[in-house]
Amino acid sequence: MVIEYNNNGELTMGGTSLKTVAQSFGTPTIVYDETQIRTQMRRFHEAFKKSGLNYNISYASKAFTCLQMVKLVQEEGLELDVVSEGELYTTLEAGFDPQHIHFHGNNKTKHEIQYALESKVGYIVIDSLEEIDLIDRYASDVVNVVIRLNPGVEAHTHEFIQTGQEDSKFGLSIKHGLAIEGVRKVKNSKRLNLKGVHFHVGSQIEGTEAMIETARLVIQWLKENDIEVELINLGGGFSIKYVEGDVSFPIEDGIAEITEAIISIAKETGFPIPEIGIEPGRSIVGEAGITLYEVGTIKTIPNVNKYVSIDGGMSDHIRTSLYDAQYEALLVNRNDQADETVTIAGKLCESGDIIIKDAKLPSTVKRGDYLAILSTGAYHYSMASNYNQMQKPSVFFLKDGKAREVIKRQSLRQLIINDTK
Ligand code: LLP
Repeated sequence: MVIEYNNNGELTMGGTSLKTVAQSFGTPTIVYDETQIRTQMRRFHEAFKKSGLNYNISYASKAFTCLQMVKLVQEEGLELDVVSEGELYTTLEAGFDPQHIHFHGNNKTKHEIQYALESKVGYIVIDSLEEIDLIDRYASDVVNVVIRLNPGVEAHTHEFIQTGQEDSKFGLSIKHGLAIEGVRKVKNSKRLNLKGVHFHVGSQIEGTEAMIETARLVIQWLKENDIEVELINLGGGFSIKYVEGDVSFPIEDGIAEITEAIISIAKETGFPIPEIGIEPGRSIVGEAGITLYEVGTIKTIPNVNKYVSIDGGMSDHIRTSLYDAQYEALLVNRNDQADETVTIAGKLCESGDIIIKDAKLPSTVKRGDYLAILSTGAYHYSMASNYNQMQKPSVFFLKDGKAREVIKRQSLRQLIINDTK
């Protein structure tokens, strides 16, 4: 994606002036480069095509979803992961083919299971032994299931949002025998068809090592236990660049490494390679999104710090306070040199409401200026809240110099719509 200043000194995204967007539609607002989202999806497709393996790519809708996003996923030929009744509802309302929906979750409610079955989703990802009985009870027809394995693999670094380690609420542990028990239970059921297995080792993972190590372990386990599957789903978790020094997962080389490793592990073990699935979220939308804010109060505490406050905060940007995540900010309406280190703060009522602790900004920044926070396309809108009765921001897709509204800003009325009088 190209983010650069034009001749008028205005920051642009894919050629569109972000100052114009902010002035026309208000702030806070999240803007996506639509072409960039499509490019990421196509890169995964191309990389897998080169491997010669049967594959499917599904977008993890938890990263960012809305009707127009789902339509885009459908247009680009990806499948879709959902983890709740709400995500399933959104996907179906957008007209997405239910056969290409996968239903995840470590505690699917009885109602969710019934909804997934009625909607005839492509498969349900089993995350507990109990769930097998529940699905069996409610299914009236044969239903495809995929067992989520807990491989007991740690993605090595504390920054990762780990999910594959032994002590985890997710999946059925291979090491502790839950996975094999799950397979037996599914096979004993008349209505459940074991389509495949799934694992997901974590999020924002830069290399391919954890995924390859896990694939090896899983293939060996399948082989040892004589389990035939049509699908191995490797999960998501491919990294993106938030700040200088971060590495965007190199899709072409990375997928080549993973698929070549799978081919050679399968050869070594004499295991027929089934369809290979992945489910990226962050790497599809993360870098394609930017949040635009307007600067309000600027407070300088002599010899201590300078706080530049913006008109949003942890209600639309929770990742800094929640994960100590790092971001970069750019001044939108002038191309001045970033010659100062400041703290960009939100407007919500707690000290932890920080967007960037040590942001490099021009010292000329003043009230009424616009700031762009980069790489906010994943887990920002989807994790937004109404804390302090803040309204959720609007969202636009930018393409060919035009801004298309895909989510309207939440209205004040919507904040009290469910309140009783
Ligand atoms: N598949 C499964 C089973 C997952 O649990 C996740 C993410 C994904 C795929 C997609 O992972 P991705 O490619 O987006 O990394 N709120 C956190 C991230 C939580 C990820 C949860 N699961 C954040 O803002 O960093």
